[in-house]
Amino acid sequence: MNKLAVGNIKMNIISKIERDNYLKILRDKLKGKTFEETSIIICPPAVHLEYFSEKIKKGNIFWGIQNAHWENSGSYTGEISPAMAKEMGADFEIIGHSERRSNFGETNDMVNKKIFSAFKNNLIPIMCIGENIDERKSGETKKVVLNQILEGLKDLTKSKVSKMIIAYEPVWSIGTGETPRGEEIMGVRILIQKILADQFGLTIKQMPKILYGGSVDYKNAREVCLSAGMDGVLVGGESLYPDSFIKIAEILEDKI
Ligand code: PGA
Repeated sequence: MNKLAVGNIKMNIISKIERDNYLKILRDKLKGKTFEETSIIICPPAVHLEYFSEKIKKGNIFWGIQNAHWENSGSYTGEISPAMAKEMGADFEIIGHSERRSNFGETNDMVNKKIFSAFKNNLIPIMCIGENIDERKSGETKKVVLNQILEGLKDLTKSKVSKMIIAYEPVWSIGTGETPRGEEIMGVRILIQKILADQFGLTIKQMPKILYGGSVDYKNAREVCLSAGMDGVLVGGESLYPDSFIKIAEILEDKI
């Protein structure tokens, strides 16, 4: 598993017709293709998880949940537990997406609890971090990233940190069509690695996968991922189009 193309479908794909259509196109696009260097991870809305994971079982295609509670069961009306997600076919869990942080008050402390519970349920956590536009303008990116990592990964062992995935997603880039330059992304990658080396004693070989996310499409995937030395991408909008999304995976695989 060298490179990762993660698709975050968000709260989209409303009808059964849309769902079936998505799967049909995805299947067509995957036909005859093998991905050896790249793993594809798609995170549909939770209600589609079981259906999707049952319909497509193929090497190097995995499923994930966009969010889950930290408890496995109990009086948490409306929530979905990581154990349920695992049972329905998920192997990954997105945690601390900026839309969860800003719209639903998710804190670093909650992110931390969710990372622990994801591991407990054999889900690989994909922790999202990144600065907003004001923080960027006032030169606070480093401070924000440091804080999100220190609090989000509090009390995790070195080996757990090594197994997770971190997605650097500058909030100002999500859904806006704007992306940082390749060298800026690379700078944040180096910063994340330095924090993990200092705080957890990770060597370069033990570093977790670090992804870039924010307005990724097949036209910029090479720059924001490959040129920036990242391990993959977290794709929102473009993952709604299996055609474009698979093209991104092929770019990571270095096929086009
Ligand atoms: P975007 O979203 O690709 O639509 O910018 C990315 C994300 O929210 O993870």
